[in-house]
Amino acid sequence: MERAPALHSLRAASLRQLQVFEAVARHLSFRKAAEELFLSQPSVSIQVKKLSQAVGQPLFEQLGKRIYLTAAGECVYAGAREALESLARVEMKVADLKGLKQGQLRLAVVTTAKYFAPRVLGVFCQRYPGIEVSLKVTNRERLLERLHANVDDLYVIGRPPESPELHFEPFVTNPLVAMAARTHPLAGERRIPLARLAEEPFIIREPGSGTRMAVESLFTEHGLRPRIRMELGSNEAIKHAIAGGLGVAVLSRHTLALEGESGPLAVLDVEGFPLPWHWYVGYPSGKELSVVARTFLDYLQDEGRLIAELPVLGPEPAARLPG
Ligand code: PGA
Repeated sequence: MERAPALHSLRAASLRQLQVFEAVARHLSFRKAAEELFLSQPSVSIQVKKLSQAVGQPLFEQLGKRIYLTAAGECVYAGAREALESLARVEMKVADLKGLKQGQLRLAVVTTAKYFAPRVLGVFCQRYPGIEVSLKVTNRERLLERLHANVDDLYVIGRPPESPELHFEPFVTNPLVAMAARTHPLAGERRIPLARLAEEPFIIREPGSGTRMAVESLFTEHGLRPRIRMELGSNEAIKHAIAGGLGVAVLSRHTLALEGESGPLAVLDVEGFPLPWHWYVGYPSGKELSVVARTFLDYLQDEGRLIAELPVLGPEPAARLPG
């Protein structure tokens, strides 16, 4: 008699196997998954092998030193993430019923938000010691990639794309200011026209940065083009370049959080500045927020935004001080 082909079913897979596989697929590395899960690399490989036997298909393929998800691997990865997320949400709801706020908050913020996000999170973590926070800091473009791949719970960004598929709400102001070295000739001037600023060598953020987008659209709207001298991938590097007299820049006032506005950098009194931007927090519209994410959202709109705002309320721009 002919034997029926072996039946493969994900139902034979264990939750542990899905957890281990999810970590390997996320890192695309057995070693990193083993480190994250405090397991040995052979035991990670065994779990993935068992899962792939249950599925009846290889989940990874190896090319050179790198591993890639196969088509079946991609499917199982999406399903594993959904299943694990939904279990985490259940855990949080049960903890909530017990009067506890427990679970993980995955927050992704754009580079410039790093000047206030840790402070805001600090108070939140003290308030809710059962909540474990992971903070990813990246530029606007990469943050949007993460959002579309549904990697994190909440996202903080300066200018969210307008789309019915995204829900974003403003929570605090993000004034963009023009800066120069304190010794720069424009530092003491009042009501500098934008066209005058455009004559100065300009230091700008890298492509993909939200700050860069804001600067580019500001100059375009006024029919001007900044004289870009240098492109740098970090606000701190830009501040150092300005302090070193290499040019001027437009950055969020939050970037002056530590030194304030009486340090080596002067905020210029340019007409139309500070640009009245906002920070937004959001997520994909259809996403069911976890108890922990909802708690953070409420906290941010209530008390967190006041903490985020603190340095922005600091001393007036040096250029506007008398004398
Ligand atoms: P950036 O983003 O840090 O990538 O420049 C800032 C923003 O979104 O406003």
